[in-house]
Amino acid sequence: MDQFKGQPRLPKFVVPKRYDIRLKPDLVAHRFAGSVAVNLDIVAATSFIVLNAAELDVSNDAVSFTNQDSSKVIKPSRVELFENDEILVLEFPEELPIGFGVLSIRFEGILNDRMKGFYRSTYEHNGEKKTMAVTQFEPADARRCFPCWDEPACKATFKITLDVPSELVALSNMPIVEEITDGDLKTVSYQESPIMSTYLVAVVVGLFDYVEDHTSDGVKVRVYCQVGKANQGKFALDVAVKTLELYKGYFATPYSLPKLDMIAIPDFAAGAMENYGLVTYRETALLYDDQHSAAANKQRVATVVAHELAHQWFGNLVTMEWWTHLWLNEGFATWVSYLATDSCFPEWKIWSQFLHESTEGLKLDGLAESHPIEVEINHACEIDEIFDAISYRKGASVIRMLQSYLGAECFQRSLASYIKRHACSNAKTEDLWAALEEGSGEPVNKLMTSWTKQKGYPVVSVKINDQKLEFNQSQFLSSGAQGEGHWIVPITLCFGSYDVHKSFLLQSKSETHDVKDFLGSTHKGLNCWIKLNVDQAGFYRVKYDELLAARLRYAVEKQLLSASDRFGILDDSFALCMACQESLTSLINLMGSYREEVDYTVLSNLITISLKVQRIAADAVPDLLEYFKQFFINLFQYSAERLGWEPKPGESHVDAMLRGEILTALAMFGHDLTLDEASKRFQAFLENRNTPLLPPDIRKAAYVAVMQRASKSNRSGYESLLKVYKEADLSQEKTRILGSLASSRDPDLILEALNFMLSSEVRSQDAVFGLAVTREGRDVAWAWLKENWEHLIKTYGSGFLITRFVGAVVSPVCLMPLYMLCPIGFLSTL
Ligand code: BES
Ligand code: ZN
Repeated sequence: MDQFKGQPRLPKFVVPKRYDIRLKPDLVAHRFAGSVAVNLDIVAATSFIVLNAAELDVSNDAVSFTNQDSSKVIKPSRVELFENDEILVLEFPEELPIGFGVLSIRFEGILNDRMKGFYRSTYEHNGEKKTMAVTQFEPADARRCFPCWDEPACKATFKITLDVPSELVALSNMPIVEEITDGDLKTVSYQESPIMSTYLVAVVVGLFDYVEDHTSDGVKVRVYCQVGKANQGKFALDVAVKTLELYKGYFATPYSLPKLDMIAIPDFAAGAMENYGLVTYRETALLYDDQHSAAANKQRVATVVAHELAHQWFGNLVTMEWWTHLWLNEGFATWVSYLATDSCFPEWKIWSQFLHESTEGLKLDGLAESHPIEVEINHACEIDEIFDAISYRKGASVIRMLQSYLGAECFQRSLASYIKRHACSNAKTEDLWAALEEGSGEPVNKLMTSWTKQKGYPVVSVKINDQKLEFNQSQFLSSGAQGEGHWIVPITLCFGSYDVHKSFLLQSKSETHDVKDFLGSTHKGLNCWIKLNVDQAGFYRVKYDELLAARLRYAVEKQLLSASDRFGILDDSFALCMACQESLTSLINLMGSYREEVDYTVLSNLITISLKVQRIAADAVPDLLEYFKQFFINLFQYSAERLGWEPKPGESHVDAMLRGEILTALAMFGHDLTLDEASKRFQAFLENRNTPLLPPDIRKAAYVAVMQRASKSNRSGYESLLKVYKEADLSQEKTRILGSLASSRDPDLILEALNFMLSSEVRSQDAVFGLAVTREGRDVAWAWLKENWEHLIKTYGSGFLITRFVGAVVSPVCLMPLYMLCPIGFLSTL
């Protein structure tokens, strides 16, 4: 039996075709019992069956194999579950006959509280505490619910039956075919699913209300939520119906199931999960409340719905062959969710906001310890690690880069043919490139291999030399070191106007182009601004020589560039500065050109950058801290005055989000007027939670401001905020408060806030939000992390949330050394 241990994948001599699964959860004892009958195709002679199982009780007499014509039942001679390998090995006394057969297994398991496998979540109903049962199987936890071939390529059909208390709602991937009630229990059976992977199987059992609509071709769509809150599901429902119709056109393939349910789960580790026909969500990612949700909450709901529904095609219908290709699922769904959101809400200018995804990808991928988009996976426990900014954000960004290189129309056509070709089957990265290569005639595989099989990305340096432009690529590392990487870089450039647009592939390390090659001999010469990576469509950074940088600074000030390009110039400059390749003075000078900026994404990034520079300055040049603060406060004055505290009639969605971010930043910089105003409005809010003085978009700012002035000896703000938290019904409101609670300057109060995160008042899914500590709190947070490590490992160690604890606590501690050499010259810019 040992020969099956330590293998990354299951042996291939038995192929599952159909699962008949029956589950009976016990919501009181927190256990479940189940049985599975799997129709198998034995493709090679064997006396072993090896499949996945974990944390399940399977006894010897609970297993049997029946041959095709049911003439023979074979009992295993040995049944062993290897917990480390998460495999169940069945040894039979004789060779199993080649061809079809049925494997039957009865088993029992625990309805756990770790938000994976088959787990329990809690809620209140009429003031009473209740338990619901939920599944979360991706990446590899179906095996904790029933023995199965738990790999994405082992697709089969699923026929599910549930035995549950008769008063509860019981949902699964497919519509119900029959419901038989017998006293307190009912047996619910569902239609057999089309062929699908195990990680997409789902079951939810609890008390819920729903709202319902349908698409123009009759797909029934429902949003389920807590009893009495059905109204909060209407926004997501509307987005879902529109998005399903959009994707049907975009992929040229209809949604493949008869129904789509989406459901809010009170305890949920990820943001949402694309289970086929039964998508599960955190409450914050599905429910929208007219009174108390902010514009940012609304946008989150729309983009998460659009992302999960994209998976119904990209992931569920066409599935990655192995986890190495996870990015195909996640990178693609992330990219296409912008397409859908843009189509539903063009006024949100969501494509500018896409740059936030790219920046986060560039940030992680700028570390020497990064990994390629395609990673080798040798054990189930390694999979969780790649649900990261590389798979999602770099993945989405390289797709955007390719789409912009090939053209939107050709890209869509090729995608539709990829979906058709691999529907109900699996695909690898190369299969996507092949379809795009066929559709475009471009060498897509060669171009993209340099981006997906190699970690990192280039910085392209450009110098102007007489009438020549010199381009040079090298790997960008945020440590300032030089990496070895080499890419095929799709370069685009504009010369003084978006009408003069050129492009070429930079294949070698350096190339020189005569300007005449780009502009012809009639052009007046090169006295214009030149912007590379037009609209920031490429996943790389650009370093301009001094002359070109100065011209771009001027173009930013004069508003000659698109918002995406203004974003890119700032973001590249910041990254280069962090990597010691550019001076802080030049960054600060550049930041000064954004004083009258109005674009949401650009300003949002300017805020992030300012806060980082401020933190670094606090360590490196404490004497200059006040000057920095004043500089940043001044930088945001124009926007603060433009936006004010209250919504303007008919204002845009992005202005509503921006107001909150600007005021939060001013509160973090300790701007007295902002703190005073916030505290007045917070008082009004305490008296009346519906006061127009504190609409949802500015609540976070007010909470942060209140905490800025709170301390152990002046705790009234903190206490009031806790009271609001305890009384709040809406998860988005609770999350907003948690995110502000550690914004005090008093380490003792911060410690109290951190301890609150681990109390029974905070669901374990939400504790990570409370780790946004001020600089004054970082030592206390680090000590707290070490002190509570055992508890944290016990609660979060088996999932991906633990990484967020470490990241949140450690990142404010490790800052770059560059700023030790803060050039005094920049003072003149204050
Ligand atoms: N497939 C993932 C859910 C998931 C994440 C499962 C991690 C297992 C581990 C889902 O499609 C997803 O990507 N959810 C995102 C939200 C999305 C809008 C980026 C999430 O959970 O954050
Ligand atoms: Zn996803």
